Amino acid sequence: MKNVVLGIDLGTSSVKTIAVDQQGEVITTVSEPLELIQNFPGHNEQNPEAWFEATKNGIKSIIQESAMQDKRIKGISFSGQMHGLVPLDKSRKVIRNAILWNDTRTTEQCQQLAKRYGDTLLKNPILEGFTLPKLLWMKQQEPDNWSELDVFILPKDYVRYRLTGELHMEYSDAAGTLLLDPKTNEWAEDIANDLELGDIFPPLVASHYRVGVITDELLNELGLEEEIAVFAGGADNACGALGAGVINEDQTLCSIGTSGVILAPENNEGLNYGHNIHYFKHVLPNTAYAMGVTLSAGYSLNWFKETVFPETSFEDMIEVASQTNIGANGLLYAPYIQGERTPHGDATIRGSFIGLSGSTTAGQMARATIEGITYALYEAIVFMRQAGKSIDHIISIGGGAKSDFWLQLQADVFNTKVSKLNYEEGPGMGAAMLAAVGLGWFESFEDCAKQFISTSTTYTPNEEKHQRYAQYFEIYQQAYAQTKDLSRQLLSIEQS
Ligand code: XUL
Repeated sequence: MKNVVLGIDLGTSSVKTIAVDQQGEVITTVSEPLELIQNFPGHNEQNPEAWFEATKNGIKSIIQESAMQDKRIKGISFSGQMHGLVPLDKSRKVIRNAILWNDTRTTEQCQQLAKRYGDTLLKNPILEGFTLPKLLWMKQQEPDNWSELDVFILPKDYVRYRLTGELHMEYSDAAGTLLLDPKTNEWAEDIANDLELGDIFPPLVASHYRVGVITDELLNELGLEEEIAVFAGGADNACGALGAGVINEDQTLCSIGTSGVILAPENNEGLNYGHNIHYFKHVLPNTAYAMGVTLSAGYSLNWFKETVFPETSFEDMIEVASQTNIGANGLLYAPYIQGERTPHGDATIRGSFIGLSGSTTAGQMARATIEGITYALYEAIVFMRQAGKSIDHIISIGGGAKSDFWLQLQADVFNTKVSKLNYEEGPGMGAAMLAAVGLGWFESFEDCAKQFISTSTTYTPNEEKHQRYAQYFEIYQQAYAQTKDLSRQLLSIEQS
């Protein structure tokens, strides 16, 4: 029998489970869909029980795969969608549906917090998506539910609790609550007291901490006999970085999924990024990371393809875009089609094409879209560099790593070397690595990353092209301020 670990990636649209052996080889993966509950505009909820059911079904399907017949599951860990509020009562029952990271109902609570503490709190901007404003919303808007609250946890913590009966939160996800003091690595009691939140905090553990084992009841249901160890897990972005081998200060991750992320690990106390960048804990001990997030990266390209190139494949559309010139004939795209996260933190800004002319082609529009998404990511790099961070080698994953054209474009815009991975599994791989390290298969995260992850092609920046992109980027940086008010006016007519 060969030993494997399972990495469970609790996302927003699905729970993906991967089985990985001691050599880092992916044996099999399964995915179980999840539904969003959207009862009011801006509300995004999920039933935590559905996460547990989907996870259980995922494990059951994995066990039945033929590739797993000679394999033994030794450990499980998690990657989780961040920031979602899961409120539990004294008997550990869920009080109400979880309020998710992409829920925007808490603008008023964010304003209250900003009035009290300024525009940053514990090294982060105060945003609707984070957990603290959700707690305040529940306290103010649902007093009956609030009076039942005994402890709050985050999405993957609930799944882990149902698998083991043990209740914890770990640092990488706790950092996204706006209630973890990054200096002491403890709950920020002063803020909790000031806001009269009460003692609602779960114990904190490290991401590779062994919280317990799968309950006997669940082992029976799965038809398994041998003990399976369960490790705490991490926030999805941190697990995505670990799963791409981005664990040291001299590495940076560019991940283009629905949203786009630039993530750079830090071993010190963290530079001063103001409200432009997030600063969260990594899944490795004594490591944090700075992160910029653009909300509509892959989402923009997908929207553009569905709208303008519905019959064409992504590959063909990108091929057409690659035949146009830098700057797309003077066309600029600002990718704010569902608001923006960093640096603007603005849910009402909307996207734009600026510079359309009678001679603009669909290919140029596709190129402008790709360039605009890349500028939004570059903006995060610029803020990080301005704060003193050195960024000169980026590992690119996700949609942006699927085309040579876009990889080279990233290298030229970012003015850094950009490498892609030989094999990419995303946050689930990071979760599996947490279980592998937790089990003691490796002495360090570095050893595990060396065994599990390798890069393939590296793209080198072209200085001349970078200078050309830099001219367009300067204009891109003005687009937010120049279109903010217009976006609000348009929205207010829409909503009237
Ligand atoms: C990060 C964030 C998202 C969620 C969704 O701050 O809000 O990446 O973790 O998965």
